[in-house]
Amino acid sequence: MKNILKWMDDRGGFSELLKPLTTHLVPPDATWNYVWGSATLFCLVLQVVTGISLGFLYQPSADVAYESLQYIENDAFLGSFIRGLHNWGASGMVFLMGIHMVRVYLNAAYKYPREMSWITGVILMAITIIMAFTGQLLRWDNNGVWSAVVAAEQMGRIPFIGKSISYFLLGGDTIGGETLNRFFSMHVFLFPALIFLMVTYHLYLVFRNGISEPPKAGRPVNPKTYRKWYEEMLQKKGVPFFPDALWRDAIFSALVLVVLLVLAFFVGAPALTTAPDMTNVNVDPKPDWYFTWIFALFALMPREIESYVMFFGPVIGIGLLFALPFLSNKGERSPLKRPWAVAGTLFIVLSISSLWYIGSIAPWSPRFDAEPLTKYTVPKASSQVERGIQLFNDEGCIYCHQIGEQGGIRGPNLTNVQNRLNKDQLIIRIVNGAENMPAYGGSLTKEELADIVEFLLQNQKK
Ligand code: HEC
Repeated sequence: MKNILKWMDDRGGFSELLKPLTTHLVPPDATWNYVWGSATLFCLVLQVVTGISLGFLYQPSADVAYESLQYIENDAFLGSFIRGLHNWGASGMVFLMGIHMVRVYLNAAYKYPREMSWITGVILMAITIIMAFTGQLLRWDNNGVWSAVVAAEQMGRIPFIGKSISYFLLGGDTIGGETLNRFFSMHVFLFPALIFLMVTYHLYLVFRNGISEPPKAGRPVNPKTYRKWYEEMLQKKGVPFFPDALWRDAIFSALVLVVLLVLAFFVGAPALTTAPDMTNVNVDPKPDWYFTWIFALFALMPREIESYVMFFGPVIGIGLLFALPFLSNKGERSPLKRPWAVAGTLFIVLSISSLWYIGSIAPWSPRFDAEPLTKYTVPKASSQVERGIQLFNDEGCIYCHQIGEQGGIRGPNLTNVQNRLNKDQLIIRIVNGAENMPAYGGSLTKEELADIVEFLLQNQKK
């Protein structure tokens, strides 16, 4: 046995490869703040394992994809659990990556000589987001498909190149079988390959340039002397990566695994909605949580500037991220000495969180799952009012309007609308609609209209 191992090592060079990686010295005071990157990597590994498992059963073809997913969800051994794990692993990866990035920024670990680590990190962020997005479409249910349609439509509005991008993404003018093939190839071949290349290089850089020491106020980075200083600091105080630093990473990743397992088991992946149906526009596509804030941003923006923001927003955003280490690669690293960096980070985190909150209540989109009103909202309802209530549900007014606490919030709450509008004004509004409300003139009979209006006039908050 020993001889076999020895032979393997002699011819294979394993310890030669691993020894420097595990024993290299790292700063002694690297703390729990340094675990985010390795935890992100851990999620990536988990994604590969669960992704391959799903790939064994998933069929990337438009007519059977939805069925194969249902098979995974309902029949396959551990299928639903692994799908849940893949879903939560993606969430975990995006989340931990975000924290890792904020941590690196606040500690200015991107400064000399670690500029390339930052740049490859920005590329990895972009790829991770693309992976999350392409994965959603593979669900090939109404929700996944419509989210992709919305995104492709947004791309299509980018000036000049938008149409070509959306054609390329969808594999045609509209979403169809080619789209699924294309997204599948991107999700399992192209971008994973790129991620591996980039992650390997990213890690190599960490190894080559060393883990950044925790910043200290009043100890600025000077590119002329930094490397020498860092070397000497390591020789004097450094500790070996294994086991002195690795144990924290291991414990934290184990914790992440436990959380993901629990989420996968008890919450699972988003329920498959229904098979995609291009003729059904009564859907309310909800992208996965990490995209809701972008949807919110676009929904809230004035229409005229939307196309430009869609194009210039990401270009400027990613451009700034790339430029960061060139704009400031020396000087103070401590957040205590960089109040603007802290303020900027807070501003961005707060903006994204509030957009995310608005996005999750999505006031601009009708609520197709709103509970129908019951007659009890109007005490002693006449039969005309009861018919009005029924129509209010059947015609979908409830999707956009609240009565009391019930209903969608796309349009104004109609609880006490009779205080604002009289009978004629109500009729005019319902018949003609408004910018974001369909005109019902053609679809309601005179009597039906009278019933709804009567209901609205009588319905009063007690
Ligand atoms: C797709 C969403 C949607 C649906 C469905 C919808 N509405 Fe509206 N409704 C709106 C919006 C948005 C407004 C505000 C329009 C504006 O003034 O800019 C509005 C305004 C109104 C108003 C005027 C309220 C006010 O305070 O000014 C009335 C009355 C009204 N809707 C009744 C109805 C009735 C009755 C139905 C069903 C037959 C209905 N709406 C269906 C979105 C909708």
